[in-house]
Amino acid sequence: MSSSTKSNSLLDWADQRYQIRGLIEFLKHKEVPIGGHSMVWYYLGGTTLFFFTIQILSGLLLLLYYQPGQDTSYETIRYITTKVPFGWLIRSVHVWSAHLMILSLVVHMFSTMLLKAYRPPREMTWVTGFLLFSISLGFGFSGYLLPWNELAYFATSVGTDSVKSVPVIGQWLLEVMRGGPDVTINTLYRFFALHIVVLPITIFAVIGMHLVMIQRQGMAPPRGHETSPRGMPFFPNFMLRDLLLWLMCLIGLMTLAVFLPYGPGLPGVEWELGLKANPLAPAYPGIKPEWYFLWIYQLLKEFPAHLFGVEGPEAALGLVSVIMGIWALIPWLDRKSRQGLPTPGFTDYGNASILFIGYLTLKAWDLGGGGGGDVLPDPAAVARTCAIIILGVAAVQIAIRVLVYHHWRFTTTGAVLLQIILHGFFGMSYLLAGAISFVLAMGVYIIRYRGRERVFEGAKS
Ligand code: HEM
Repeated sequence: MSSSTKSNSLLDWADQRYQIRGLIEFLKHKEVPIGGHSMVWYYLGGTTLFFFTIQILSGLLLLLYYQPGQDTSYETIRYITTKVPFGWLIRSVHVWSAHLMILSLVVHMFSTMLLKAYRPPREMTWVTGFLLFSISLGFGFSGYLLPWNELAYFATSVGTDSVKSVPVIGQWLLEVMRGGPDVTINTLYRFFALHIVVLPITIFAVIGMHLVMIQRQGMAPPRGHETSPRGMPFFPNFMLRDLLLWLMCLIGLMTLAVFLPYGPGLPGVEWELGLKANPLAPAYPGIKPEWYFLWIYQLLKEFPAHLFGVEGPEAALGLVSVIMGIWALIPWLDRKSRQGLPTPGFTDYGNASILFIGYLTLKAWDLGGGGGGDVLPDPAAVARTCAIIILGVAAVQIAIRVLVYHHWRFTTTGAVLLQIILHGFFGMSYLLAGAISFVLAMGVYIIRYRGRERVFEGAKS
């Protein structure tokens, strides 16, 4: 029997039982849109999925030896990294891949936002994506404590402490998270359960929904190319490119894991085991959360202890909740985009958020502030250095937007840059600079809105 006859009869056998020919036909006809923007953005969901798969596999291998407990968490991680053959590599792969997954996810999220891929009928793809983003942050936060070392202990104490600023239920939420008023081994048990049971089950379900929606609706064509007949066949053309990219990601991941097994050494991107957690030891200064939480950490620092009768941290977390809420509801807020019209204001909002988050993240790293040892970094020098960097990034971003994409709306970007300039170069407080920029941006919006109303009235009369 020839090999093609053999594979045909195998296919027949499987098709009679599981009707798989329908799936093959579907894959043959599935296409990835080609049009107004680069196809690069269509690969980022796939790379996120790739790193997620690595997380599951490397996490399972770590579980062969890891045991949560007062006398075992730290000890088993040390055993894995020093005694188990290639254990150090598996741990390094798990942590590097976690960082790369979040990085890929964040770029995927911003690219789908800027391409307005959330337009109808894909609103729920965006919402499930937003849930995936939140769950992934939960994975990062809960996994951090598991080695039960000093760094993890104090970072978790600081991180969970901010939860008590959530209005009304803050203290209760803090105790539910910690399993008591303080971070103890009970907190580790809870985080362990979250990390290996609750979050994986939830993320599998949500990724399933996300992918089913994408399969049912296909990938969003660029605006203005909805009826374009051009498309790249998913199978085999796009899939082979996907596989090649995954291979490159694997090579990059292994290189980083082998040559930098404890991370690049930046605050928030390091995982040297160090000393075992000792709740009685004094917390050392300069403890920072992981890089993707840094902007929230810095925002909390920018708020005073009290603001208009509200606790400063409560106000800061309120602001973060508003920003996140707007982000989750974008498919409904961007009303014109629902009718297929261009919405430059939302494009500008997406671009401005990158600068806003970037500035706070750099500040949290105390870039350019000097210091070290017992000497604290100079806040004015940090604010100035970070402002110079972000203004440089903004100049490149604006040049690309104007020259390549012919954008002409920059109100939100302008407000964010004004805040950075007032704070970084003129020493104004971050909040006051923000308030001035916000009021000015609102003024521009109102004037523009009134102008549009007048044109509309004129056209009617
Ligand atoms: C674990 C995290 C995630 C995984 C594994 C994932 C996976 C994918 C895959 C494979 C695609 C199709 C290919 C592509 O466009 O890249 C996709 C599309 C999409 N994703 Fe995600 N994603 C994740 C997180 C997110 C997040 C955080 C958002 C936004 C909040 C998001 C929003 C979308 C949207 C709107 C599409 C449709 C894109 C289009 O039709 O062009 N995803 N995702």
